[in-house]
Order: sequence, then C-alpha cells, then structure tokens
Amino acid sequence: MANNTFTEENFTKLKEVIAKNKDKQGALIPVLNEAQKIFGCLPIEVQKEISKGLNMPLAEIYGVVTFYAQFSLEPKGKYTIGVCLGTACYVKGSQKVLDRIKEELNIEVGKTSRDGKFTLEATRCIGACGLAPVMTINEDVYGRLVASDIPSILQKY
Ligand code: FES
Repeated sequence: MANNTFTEENFTKLKEVIAKNKDKQGALIPVLNEAQKIFGCLPIEVQKEISKGLNMPLAEIYGVVTFYAQFSLEPKGKYTIGVCLGTACYVKGSQKVLDRIKEELNIEVGKTSRDGKFTLEATRCIGACGLAPVMTINEDVYGRLVASDIPSILQKY
C-alpha cells in the first residue's frame, strides 16, 4: 500500500474540500470524487474524516463507496484490467477470460494483486462489441480473446 499518500498534507486538502462542499446539496459524491483523486482510494480512515466533516453516518458513506464502481476502498494497481461482461462479450465467453485472469493473478474481481501491479475489474459494454470478448489494460484494448491468450498478454506488463 502506498502509505505515503495518507499524509497530513493530504488530510488537510481533504478538509478543505469538505469545507467547500459541506453546505451544498448532495455534497457527498463530489467530496468522494475529490478524496479519491487526493488519496487514490477511499479506505475507512478517509471515510471517517468525511463522515465527521459532512456530519453523515459512516455506514451511509461506506454504502455509497461500495456501490459505485468508480470508488475503490483499496489502492489500485499500476495496471487496471477491465474485462467486459456486457452481453456481446459474455455470449462470446468473456467469463472464461475473466476466470483465467483470476487464476493467473490469484485475485478476485475488484482486488489488486499482491505486488500492486494489477487491479482486476469487470466492466459493462465498452462499445467495442465487434471485438468481443474484449478486455482493457489501462489504455490498451484486446479483442477476440480466448482464455489461453491471457498469460502471454499479462507477461507484457
Ligand atoms: S459487450 Fe463488451 S464491448 Fe460491448
């Protein structure tokens, strides 16, 4: 974990963001967005600060953080792998591709590999159905995948 992101300086920045948004309607989402930019993720310590600052129950904040895919409790890996589970990709076997990645990296969806290199995510249609099944690794797009393609692709990173 990149502990150096949890500095006093960053917590000060967070407090400023909270102060700025506090009296606005629907302050939570913008504050969470900013907080995630500052810290790279939204662990409980950060949520507690937001709960205090916005005077909202921690459980409510936790609910929002875990509901929206854009928020993450843990720091993300250097590379984010997104496997599309949209209909076209699913029909063409993206679940098998996803399972193979889980096996290769020994992680579940939403988690980051122990070396901090890869975060695995399942996504909705990314608009490249013609290439189904599709996965992305950061900006790179891979299409017409079969499970056996996975090891050599991962090796490139
Ligand atoms: S369903 Fe996967 S890209 Fe559209």
